[in-house]
Amino acid sequence: MEKKKSIFSYYKPYKKIFFADMFFAIMASIITLVIPLVVRYITSTVIYYETDEAFRVILKLGLMMTVLILFQCYCNYFIANYGHVMGAKIEYDMRAEIFAHYQKLPFSFYDNQKVGQLLSRITSDLFDITELLHHGPENVVISAMKFIGAFVILFTISPKLTFAAFALIPFMFLYAWFFNRKMKKAFARNRVKIADINAQIEDNLSGIRVVKSFANESVEEEKFKVGNDGFLAAKKDSYLYMGGYHSGLTAFINMITVIVLVAGGILITKAQVSVTDLVTFLLYISIMTDPVRTMIDFAEMFQNGYSGYERFQEILAIEPDIQDSQGSEELTDVKGTIDFENVSFQYEENTEKVLSHIDLHVDAGEYLALVGSSGAGKTTLCNLIPRFYDVTGGSIKVDGKDVRDLTLKSLRDHIGIVQQDVYLFVGTVYDNIAYGRPDATREEVIEAAKNANAHEFIMALPDGYDTDIGQRGVKLSGGQKQRLSIARVFLKNPPILIFDEATSALDNESERVVQESLEKLAKNRTTFVIAHRLSTIRNAKKILVLTENGIEEEGTHTELMKKNGIYAGLYRMQFADEEV
Ligand code: GTP
Ligand code: MG
Repeated sequence: MEKKKSIFSYYKPYKKIFFADMFFAIMASIITLVIPLVVRYITSTVIYYETDEAFRVILKLGLMMTVLILFQCYCNYFIANYGHVMGAKIEYDMRAEIFAHYQKLPFSFYDNQKVGQLLSRITSDLFDITELLHHGPENVVISAMKFIGAFVILFTISPKLTFAAFALIPFMFLYAWFFNRKMKKAFARNRVKIADINAQIEDNLSGIRVVKSFANESVEEEKFKVGNDGFLAAKKDSYLYMGGYHSGLTAFINMITVIVLVAGGILITKAQVSVTDLVTFLLYISIMTDPVRTMIDFAEMFQNGYSGYERFQEILAIEPDIQDSQGSEELTDVKGTIDFENVSFQYEENTEKVLSHIDLHVDAGEYLALVGSSGAGKTTLCNLIPRFYDVTGGSIKVDGKDVRDLTLKSLRDHIGIVQQDVYLFVGTVYDNIAYGRPDATREEVIEAAKNANAHEFIMALPDGYDTDIGQRGVKLSGGQKQRLSIARVFLKNPPILIFDEATSALDNESERVVQESLEKLAKNRTTFVIAHRLSTIRNAKKILVLTENGIEEEGTHTELMKKNGIYAGLYRMQFADEEV
C-alpha cells in the first residue's frame, strides 16, 4: 500500500540547504530593515557633528553599509542559486517517482488517459509544486520579517505617522486579494486550455500521416483553432485581471506615499516629528508594502502548487491493480502448458463481456492458431496470459500455476509477444532488437536478426544495424518492422510465444518471409498465433475458432474443413477474395 505522502517529506533529504536558505532569507531581510536606520542615524545625528568627525563617521558607516550590501548580495545569490537548485532536486525526485509509477500502471489505466495530459503532470505541474516548495517558506519568512520589522521600527519613531502609513494597507490587501483570486481562476483556465492544446498537438503529430492521407490539414487546423481560440480567450481574461492587479497595487503604494507626506508634513508643522523621521518613513514604504504583494503572490503560488501536488498525489495514489500479490512465486523451469479455466473477461464494469466461460488446454510446445472475426476477442484472450489485464472470472494457469500467483516479472520474462501494432522506439535498428534482452552481445543481436530473416534488409540500410529508424520506425516498411519485432523476441528466447499477426501490413512475399521466421521461432515453444490469413496456419496442429459465443470450433485445418462450419466458411470466403 502506498500511503499519501506529506508534501514536507520531500524536503527531508535537503534539510541542510533548506535551513541555510531560511537563514540567508532572514539575514537578507534584516539588512533591508537596517539600511534605512543607518540613513536615519546619519541624517539626524551625524551631520550635526564637527566636519572632520562627521566625515570620518560617514565614511565608516558607508563602509559598513557596503559590507552589509555585499553580504546581502551573497544571501540573495544563495537563495536564488541554491534555493532553486533545491527546488530542482525535489522536482527531480518527484519526477522520477511519478515516472516510475507510470511504468507500473496497467494497460487499463492508459486505455482511458490522454498522453498529453499525463505529460503535463510530469512537466508543468511539477514545476509549480517545486516553485511553491522552494519559494513558499522563504517568502513567508521574508514577508513576515519585513512587515513586522518595519511596523515595530516605525512605531517607535512615531505612532501617529505609523498609523497613517498603515491605514491603507488593509484596503490594499483586500484589493489585491480580490484581483488575485480572479486572476488565479483565469490562470487555472489557461492551464486547462494549454493542457488540452498539448494533448491535441500530441494526437495530431502522432497521426500526421493519417491527416495527410485524408488531406485533412484544414480540418485539423479548424479543430486546432477551436482549442487555440479558447486559450486566447482565457489568456485575455487573465491579463484583464492582471492589469487591474498590478496598476491598482502601484496606485496604492503611491497613495501611501502621499498620505505619509501629507500626514508627515502636518506633524512636522506641529513639531511632532522631524524631517529625518519623514525621510525614514518614506524609505520604509516599499519595505512594508512589498510583503503585501509577496503574500498575495504566495497565496496564488500556494493554490497552484498545492493543486498540482494533489493531482500528482492522485496519480501516485492509483494502485496498479495488476501487481505482484503477496507471496507470489517466481516462474522458473517453464514447460509451457497453458490452461484457461472458465475464463471470463470484460474491459470495464458495465460493458459487455468480451470473453465468457472459456476453457482451453494447451500442451507445452504446442502450436495453436486462433481465428475468428474481427473484434471476437483474439487479442484480448492473448493479453490475459501475460496479465496485461486480469481475468474477471475463472483463472489462467501456466504450468499449472495461476498467473496471479506468479511475479509479474518472471511471468512476462517467459512470454514473448509480437503485437498486432508493432511499436519501435526512437533509436537504431540495433537498439530496437536489443530491447528484447538489453544485456545481449552484438553477435547475439545479429544472430536474432538472421533468425528473423531481417539481417539482409538491415545490412542494406544506410548504416546497417546502426541506422536510425525514425520515430516509431517510420523509415521501415510494415514487414520490416514486424521482422524487427520478431528478432526482438528471438533474442528474448521465451518458452511461450504470442504472435498477433498484423492484418494486412504485409504483401505475400514478406508474409512468407515472416511466416518462415515465425515457424522457426515457434519450434519447441508453446505458441499462440492469431491468424488473419488462414493460409498461414494450414499446418497448425490445433486451430481454435473464436466468436462472440466463445470457442466454437476446434481441430486441424482438414478436420475443420470437413466439418464445414464457421472455419470452412471463413476459409472459403478468404480463398474467394484471394482468387479475385
Ligand atoms: P482483430 O484484431 O480485429 O481481429 O480483433 P480481435 O479479435 O483481436 O479483438 P480484440 O480482442 O482486440 O477486441 C475484442 C473486443 O474488445 C472488441 O469489441 C473491442 O471493442 C473490445 N476492446 C478491445 N480493447 C479494448 C479496450 O482497451 N477497452 C475496452 N473497453 N474495450 C476494448
Ligand atoms: Mg486483434
